[in-house]
Amino acid sequence: MKSIILDLLKKSSDSHISGEELSKSLGVTRAAIWKYIKALKEEGYEISSVSNKGYKLISSPDLLTYEEISPHLKTNIIGRNIYYFQSIDSTNAKAKELARQGEKEGTLIISESQSSGKGRLGRAWTSPKDKGIWMSLILRPDVEPSYASKITLIAAAAVHKAIKEYCNINCGIKWPNDIIINNKKVCGILTEMSGELTKINYIIMGIGINANLNLEDFPEEIRDIATSIKLEKGESIIRKNLIAKIMNEFEPLYNEMINYSNINSTIEICRANSIFIGKEVKLINKNEVIIAKVIDIDDQGELIIEKEDGTILPIISGEVSMRGLYGYI
Ligand code: BTN
Repeated sequence: MKSIILDLLKKSSDSHISGEELSKSLGVTRAAIWKYIKALKEEGYEISSVSNKGYKLISSPDLLTYEEISPHLKTNIIGRNIYYFQSIDSTNAKAKELARQGEKEGTLIISESQSSGKGRLGRAWTSPKDKGIWMSLILRPDVEPSYASKITLIAAAAVHKAIKEYCNINCGIKWPNDIIINNKKVCGILTEMSGELTKINYIIMGIGINANLNLEDFPEEIRDIATSIKLEKGESIIRKNLIAKIMNEFEPLYNEMINYSNINSTIEICRANSIFIGKEVKLINKNEVIIAKVIDIDDQGELIIEKEDGTILPIISGEVSMRGLYGYI
């Protein structure tokens, strides 16, 4: 009921709707309407109430609910079903639970905060309340499990394009799953998969974006290697618009893989915005440390490196770091 009232208020945003009109068309008392309006105001909606005229929506908060995100979506499936939480342990953990219960492809789990946000390699991911974008997408692609790493690149390309175009800020892709601004990490992607040898059951695409964090929101030990869009841009961004933009960018890139079995558009974005190409990097592969020069990202999304002895190798996945960039000083 509350979301129907919100929808009606949004549709008549330039005029008041009377409490009587709302109560008649929805078949509830005027007192009930008033209660829903009060609840909406408590959520941060600014609603004017004028006697004899009724209610009018003045402004909406940056809430990450379906009601707030969907008006900006251009997708068919991706982000069309949203679970929204104030706080949760980890959106990836919740997404896994929902996927196991059969939740459909494109479902997005978003939380305002995470108490046990997970990063790669078992690291923790700081997720303070109302400041960032902490979300996980459920995917069920009918492709071989080896495609999981390509889907990470699709997400990185979509997030990169969205941040660059919506926030109007220069950023780079640290293959395969980080977005960086001014040599500091602003976004990390954690892809988790459940599958058999030849079939993917589901993929959870966890995306963490430091959107509006201030310096003191980061633990002290990562303050010189992490940043936020707000810190780099000098102003806050509207998170719901950025989420919608990411979904809008992700869907066509994902469909290209599903329908045409290639990720050409993704590769184009990753190549053009890679911070690694032409640079010397350090790779840690099990116990081996390799110093190499990055030559390219090939059509499969593999990082092509040239070792010090001249050998050229494709790298499918792994931790890569670069001198001057966080983690490799
Ligand atoms: C990394 O760079 O280490 C990956 C970080 C991924 C963090 C996101 S936040 C939303 C989702 N839920 C989690 O617990 N982790 C991912």
